[in-house]
Amino acid sequence: MTLGPEELKRLVGRTAADEVRDGQVVGLGTGSTAVYAIARLGQRIKEGLSIVGIPTSLATQQQAKEAGIPLATLHDYDRVDLTIDGADEVDPHLDLIKGLGGALLREKIVASVTDTLVIIVDERKIVERLGTRTPLPVEVVDFGKRQAVEALRKLGCTPALRTRPGGIPLRTDSDNVVIDCMFPSGIDDPASLEARIDLIPSVVENGLFLGMADLVLVGTPTGVTRLTRGG
Ligand code: A5P
Repeated sequence: MTLGPEELKRLVGRTAADEVRDGQVVGLGTGSTAVYAIARLGQRIKEGLSIVGIPTSLATQQQAKEAGIPLATLHDYDRVDLTIDGADEVDPHLDLIKGLGGALLREKIVASVTDTLVIIVDERKIVERLGTRTPLPVEVVDFGKRQAVEALRKLGCTPALRTRPGGIPLRTDSDNVVIDCMFPSGIDDPASLEARIDLIPSVVENGLFLGMADLVLVGTPTGVTRLTRGG
């Protein structure tokens, strides 16, 4: 029997949650794949697992609370042992684009202090070159969004302010807006692009997660493939 997209998300989510060990501080990612990992962690807690979760969004915080996961924030801990999160694209270096779910800022902060970042995706998210399947989300302070759009355009993309149905700009958990940047033939040099984006006033964070993922669990119709940095 071939597994559909939702079943693949459930499979990788569950597999990642089963990597978690007693006593760990666990970063809880955001998105439609991470929800399965959080649900499984909730189950394991009922079976006796003892962990503390650091949610990367208000939506995740709510789900984790309902699942019975004890929660903390980065004010309570210097480091996070292991984080489980989704991604929008994964390239052969395990570099990522994240943020289509609008939570990239807190996700990146948590990832940056995480010892083992576990990414869970289905095989449609695996790309040869970043930026070929999805736009690159950039979180920007609302005050300077118009100028940020123009500055991003000069970097070679087609920028679009993300809106909610009805055309109202989407606000993130930190009350910023998101500009989605579509690069016509993908991103040439992600590290240099990231450096140039970060120089734009108003930019809070971008969705490039370079050199951060330690393990990528890919859901395929025949099971879970494990990709680690350096093969
Ligand atoms: C949230 O802002 C994102 O970074 C998500 O982790 C990413 O969009 C993956 O989400 P899905 O698992 O829903 O595709």
